[in-house]
Amino acid sequence: MKSLYGVIGSPIAHSMSPLIHNNAFLQNGMDAHYHAFHVEPDQLETAVAGMRALGVTGFNVTIPHKEAIIPLLDSVEDAALQIGAVNTVVNKDGKLIGYNTDGRGYVEALKEVVGLKDKHVLIIGAGGAARAIFYTLALEEGIQLDICNRTVSKSEDLIKEFSLERIARSITVDQAAKEIKNYDVVVQTTSVGMFPQINDTPLPLVSVKNHAVFSDIIYNPIETKLLREAKALGAITQNGVHMFAYQAALAFEIWTGKFPDTDRMKKLVEEHLGGKTC
Ligand code: ATR
Repeated sequence: MKSLYGVIGSPIAHSMSPLIHNNAFLQNGMDAHYHAFHVEPDQLETAVAGMRALGVTGFNVTIPHKEAIIPLLDSVEDAALQIGAVNTVVNKDGKLIGYNTDGRGYVEALKEVVGLKDKHVLIIGAGGAARAIFYTLALEEGIQLDICNRTVSKSEDLIKEFSLERIARSITVDQAAKEIKNYDVVVQTTSVGMFPQINDTPLPLVSVKNHAVFSDIIYNPIETKLLREAKALGAITQNGVHMFAYQAALAFEIWTGKFPDTDRMKKLVEEHLGGKTC
């Protein structure tokens, strides 16, 4: 019998997850199907009960349900509990187990272009995406993390909540812009620069450190203005397609035990976006 997988969220119509997961199932010779389900918050509990009742093998969880789903699951891995968000659920013999592959996916993707040991990293933003990335980056040996956010109290709270004062500090956006040449890696986690506000950047950029890596979680547009400016100043850049592919690949591995071809996933996403948004 065909195994069923899916993603629940709202909005969900433009999700690229069905495209990449269905392709990965095909590539791995698996008889499975992945479907996008539009679920409003007032239907979340019923939807999760439905997943259970129908024996759906695994599913992703996206905005706005990543936090709210936690109490509806049978168990949740520690990292996802700490982050406070679940994006992947596996159905193991009728028990729904939650994971977070966003943070790990991001860091795995980043490690394709830069080693993180002893690096000085700037995180721009302190929202939900920054939370998973901050938590996961902080596990890297010798890393030093600065977070700047429009609302400074949110980056301060994040550091306090994870008790990471020893390796992390909160700074203003102005300070980050002034000190930008100190950073080996700059991680952009806000929505600034996302379609349709493609001419916005989270901070002004006049110079970058030699061999600096700039990474943006945005994939629409494929190259944000910040990445374009950083590249022009000599930085190595990485767009959000990489993180998207890796969080999906890690979810696929949790469900099937197989790690799919991330290059293929990236290519599918880039082709899909290239035709539509740029
Ligand atoms: P996500 O889950 O995608 O991270 P979020 O939790 O709403 O979404 O967080 C959005 C992030 O983008 C925050 O860091 C937010 O800054 P504030 O905490 O000050 O709101 C940042 N952000 C969004 N719009 C912004 C803008 N116009 N200028 C600067 N930062 C912005």
